[in-house]
Amino acid sequence: MKIDVLPVFGKQTDYQLQDTTVIVVDVLRATTSIITALNGGAIKVVPTVDAGDAVALASRLGMRECVLGGERGGVKISGFELGNSPEEYLSRAVRGKTVIVSTSNGTGALHSVRSAENVLIGAMINRTSAAKAAAAESKDILIVCAGTDGQPSADDLCTAGAIIDAVRVYADPRPGELSDMALLCETLYNNWKAGSFDLSCTFHYSRLCAMGFDEDVRFCFTPDTTDTVPVYKDGVIVKYR
Ligand code: MLT
Repeated sequence: MKIDVLPVFGKQTDYQLQDTTVIVVDVLRATTSIITALNGGAIKVVPTVDAGDAVALASRLGMRECVLGGERGGVKISGFELGNSPEEYLSRAVRGKTVIVSTSNGTGALHSVRSAENVLIGAMINRTSAAKAAAAESKDILIVCAGTDGQPSADDLCTAGAIIDAVRVYADPRPGELSDMALLCETLYNNWKAGSFDLSCTFHYSRLCAMGFDEDVRFCFTPDTTDTVPVYKDGVIVKYR
């Protein structure tokens, strides 16, 4: 089983997406919020790249059936009911609803792998369950990180490493089956876990804290608080199992 990590979405080839289990990670905060929305009772989550597309879809499906959520630059999109703080998605607002989300990078990352057969949603909060689900597919694994504005983001790379660390519990990749990027992510995660790498000085993490989203960051970086593993298929995200 080969394991690779794409530090920023958009550079994968269709060939890489074939016969592979893809895990999309945008730990701060899109994939964490999507997982939390399903835990909060949303029927499904529909990601859109464009905020206008989200509004158009909500009008087509019926505003009463939907909740619009998302951000640009970390700030709630004007006219949307929810921003991108995971805990907002535990509210009654999402229960029984279709949640339509549009975020700066995370929904773009999802869109970029829409042709893949097998796409799971990963984050720190479900890292072990996502790893277990991916290992059960017995295919190569490609972790696609959202990054921030086209640049790798250490928070995503650390989370990719956390998932790879957990994959080792359920599968036994042979030496040479982890790409150099996968090994670097795993090392980053182990250093973070040991307290020798401080994520709080990295760009997106520190920007969110400076905006007052410390509680979101804490929520997003608490490992294994849920076993929900969403799957993205035909443009829609639902619980995998
Ligand atoms: C994104 O999609 O870039 C993020 O989820 C941004 C955020 O933290 O809200």
